[in-house]
Amino acid sequence: MKIVKTSELVPGMELTEDVYLSGKVLLLSKGTSLTYENIRWLTSLGVEQVTVKVEVEAEDSGAIDIAVEPVIHPFIQTYQKAVDSAERVLLGLVHNNKLDEYELVSTVKNLLMVVLNEPGVLKYLTWTREQNEGIFSHLVGVSAYSILLGRWLGYDNTKLMTVGLAGILHDLGKCLIPSEILDKPSTLTSDEFKLVQEHTTRGFHLAMQGNIHRIEILSAILQHHERLDGSGYPGGIKGNQIEELSKLIMITDIFDAMTSSRSYRQSRTVFDAVEEIMSESYVEKLDPALSLTFVRRIVDHFVGMKVELSSGAIGKVIQVDQQNPHRPVIWTEDQMVDLRDNMKISISRVLPD
Ligand SMILES: [Fe+2]
Repeated sequence: MKIVKTSELVPGMELTEDVYLSGKVLLLSKGTSLTYENIRWLTSLGVEQVTVKVEVEAEDSGAIDIAVEPVIHPFIQTYQKAVDSAERVLLGLVHNNKLDEYELVSTVKNLLMVVLNEPGVLKYLTWTREQNEGIFSHLVGVSAYSILLGRWLGYDNTKLMTVGLAGILHDLGKCLIPSEILDKPSTLTSDEFKLVQEHTTRGFHLAMQGNIHRIEILSAILQHHERLDGSGYPGGIKGNQIEELSKLIMITDIFDAMTSSRSYRQSRTVFDAVEEIMSESYVEKLDPALSLTFVRRIVDHFVGMKVELSSGAIGKVIQVDQQNPHRPVIWTEDQMVDLRDNMKISISRVLPD
């Protein structure tokens, strides 16, 4: 057969058709001999199948090609559109002082529908975020993770819309900070650091100019870098002075930021991100009722993941301890590795299935 599921591709197979994302963005050209990285990339973008050349046996020397449009998972399509819309709407607000509320609301509504109804969303979300960088991708990623966390907390759809809107707007103020500073690979000077921190207050004022009046959303923009122990910014406020939605976005913001690529660094694994969230919760910076719900549900999805260990071994996660979800039990080709007992070994990356 010529149509091959992305999960069954192996390096060395040759594409017989160009592969496009949403029919417009060329991902890989016809004739490409697939590498491990290509396959990983196609998987992360939700391309479910492609056509490849298959050598035919015996006297038939040719190869059969069957043209087929790659099937893209609905979440990936919605995610890409949402990133484009977020950029259009938020830059419109920055440059024209006008918020296209209709487009913003319909973008979040579409994201909410796909996040709540499509099976496998979490897998595609984590893969996609690992491959994408930039403010608008981050905003959509945080919006999607926040909708998921809101659902796990039992929020109704009206509240989930507010959560999704807060997620897509929370870093609005970064549109006002020069990208050379946001993407600076070296340590920021204290003035630059202060300027980056201002994205909270500047975003808050910009949102008000755009006629956003809902207190939970304005608070999330202003407070998502506060911490429950008062160690955050801009206000250094504590505990119940912080809105619940701001506490929720703190968690999804950390998770999304750590697990996505940045121009100056590789993404960290979901295991590292969960460890960070748990340790911030133990020292009472994050709300444990929210963070433990998030961690418990996210780690359910770890079992079965294919991972590479720092020792170079490749294996599958077969068991996750809820108390130590970042130190799971891995089955490699010939042995079981319990990372709780092997502190020198860590998970260096997650591999496509
Ligand atoms: Fe932020």
